[in-house]
Amino acid sequence: MLAIIGGSGLTQLSTLAITRREVVRTPYGEPSAPLLFGSVAGQPAVFLARHGHGHTIPPHRVNYRANLWALKAREAKAVLAVASVGGIRDAAPGALVLPEQIIDYTSGRASTFFDGEEGRVVHADFTRPYTPWLRERCLEAARASGLPLQAGGIYGAVNGPRLESAAEIDRMDRDGATLVGMTGMPEAVLARELDLPYVAICVVVNHAAGRGDSADAISMEALSRTLEAGMEKVRALLDHLAPIAHAPAGERP
Ligand code: HPA
Repeated sequence: MLAIIGGSGLTQLSTLAITRREVVRTPYGEPSAPLLFGSVAGQPAVFLARHGHGHTIPPHRVNYRANLWALKAREAKAVLAVASVGGIRDAAPGALVLPEQIIDYTSGRASTFFDGEEGRVVHADFTRPYTPWLRERCLEAARASGLPLQAGGIYGAVNGPRLESAAEIDRMDRDGATLVGMTGMPEAVLARELDLPYVAICVVVNHAAGRGDSADAISMEALSRTLEAGMEKVRALLDHLAPIAHAPAGERP
């Protein structure tokens, strides 16, 4: 079953025919919202609103561990994370991007399931933070739906909720980050720790601070408009992704 974690602009999924909702309790507390089970394009799917249904939970307060644990516990086999981001380079507002790498600038978040409590030390491999076969399926779905999906890019995950200074974006650019967002970590690594295949589809909603039309400030009005249009594209992509989001035989996450 495909799990979809919806971010800003995707607190509901109109393409999901809902059959059941469940408040899942986990050893880490409650997820951001009840899990919504149903189908997308005739395929079983589960949806979770990362910031809560009313979009009330800020990025640094999201219970990422409870969210991923709940999806794993309810038999999700792959996770598609939808996230809005700022574009640092090669990512214009309105674009959909499928990043390949991550740089983590967050701090103070509960970022592992392996806290030593079980009396063992585990180091998850994170060389390729986004699951390669699932990225391929996303690209196939994009081709089938005729939607442009940019392959590649480096997601820089920041704490928020404030936006960045222009100098911070310059530094991230020097590091190689092409996108900036507030929720990509620890979500991606927690999925990896649970052996859950994971990809992110990023909707670029603004030029990052100091870039393009955000040279002097980031306009929230423009951002909201771009977000809405971008999420429409994501819904269309999902209809093509849901039927093919299965691991190839013998594939590890
Ligand atoms: N910075 C951080 N997170 C974001 C941005 C941004 O410019 N736009 C959307 N999410």
